[in-house]
Amino acid sequence: MKFFIDTANLDQIREAYEMGILDGVTTNPSLMAKEGIKGVQNQHEHYIRICQLVGGDVSAEVIATDYNGMIEEGTILAGLDPHIVVKVPCTTDGIKALRYFSDKGIRTNCTLIFSTGQALLAAKAGATYVSPFVGRLDDIGEDGVALVGNIVEMLRYYDFPTQVLAASIRNSHHIVQCVDMGTDVVTCPLEAIKGLLNHPLTDAGLARFLEDYRKNNEKN
Ligand code: G3P
Repeated sequence: MKFFIDTANLDQIREAYEMGILDGVTTNPSLMAKEGIKGVQNQHEHYIRICQLVGGDVSAEVIATDYNGMIEEGTILAGLDPHIVVKVPCTTDGIKALRYFSDKGIRTNCTLIFSTGQALLAAKAGATYVSPFVGRLDDIGEDGVALVGNIVEMLRYYDFPTQVLAASIRNSHHIVQCVDMGTDVVTCPLEAIKGLLNHPLTDAGLARFLEDYRKNNEKN
């Protein structure tokens, strides 16, 4: 099971990497905008910096929405660093682009997946990863975690090599729920990763150990 961080913030990526648990990074145009990274050249340099920090898969999303534009942009992104995974939206042109990239040996992440049918088409087109958006489905009263489970089951049943990358993770509970569903990857905000560590019994247990040590070792 792989842990990705869903951010373009270098400090957060570094912090997760230094925990020793980070396998990769996902970004999207909104996350790049949040970091104020403007212009194609700066964005490319930022992706390269992320790749150098992590040494794992880094999803970089195409902006083009037409087939030719996606191919052109994705080919350039893939050439930036061997760790780049080209992120493509789940549209008709996106599915065609997935097939093109797959045939060329370029790894892909099909994003904005909200149904099992979308994941099926992306897998058929050779996507390396499919990204169901858990939080955004929950936002509209649907069950994002259940979708992750359905996609995992479908891909395993038919023996697709495509990996499920649970995205739009909003909290630590989402992470654990997606892991229960057998997801291959979760991509999450740093706070959700750190939240996995929180348990009052750990804090209370450690305090008691230290207190007992102190009492046992204090001078009479
Ligand atoms: O990986 C997709 C993710 O960035 C979307 O998350 O919280 O904007 O729904 P969110």
